[in-house]
Amino acid sequence: MALRNILTEGNPTLYKKSRPVVKFDDRLHLLLDDMKETLLDAEGVGLAAPQVGILRRLFLVDTGEEILECINPEIIETSGEQIGLEGCLSVPGKYGVVKRPNVVKIRAQDRNGEWFEAEGEELIARCFCHEYAHLDGQLYTEVAERMLTNEELEALCADDGE
Ligand code: NI
Repeated sequence: MALRNILTEGNPTLYKKSRPVVKFDDRLHLLLDDMKETLLDAEGVGLAAPQVGILRRLFLVDTGEEILECINPEIIETSGEQIGLEGCLSVPGKYGVVKRPNVVKIRAQDRNGEWFEAEGEELIARCFCHEYAHLDGQLYTEVAERMLTNEELEALCADDGE
């Protein structure tokens, strides 16, 4: 396994639409293993393939219980609403205020091609939407109601330090 380089804002790959995964082979498994290592190393909640330069429809989400591998995901149900802070490993050092559904149900394939469904609330629901948007070439900064100011960021970092 190896750490992959995470692309940052401005890199053209992040704004392209990803293609479906068609082969559930060793190469896919290696990519998933590398992305898992990269996500854990970066201490993120989610990571989508385009963020490591691969334009394929898959992402990982750390649910707190496991690293969920979601391949060819579809959002099949959403409900409620939440407004909260969002960040992205591809937009380091920034946070924005983003409105998302509070509950999101997805359908996706696992690394062997088996379909499953998963439901997330609050942070996980937010993460499903955020990662899914990466697959269509969209960063949260495009849908954020506003980005935090430098003063607000400093206050946030001070809180984190306590
Ligand atoms: Ni992101």
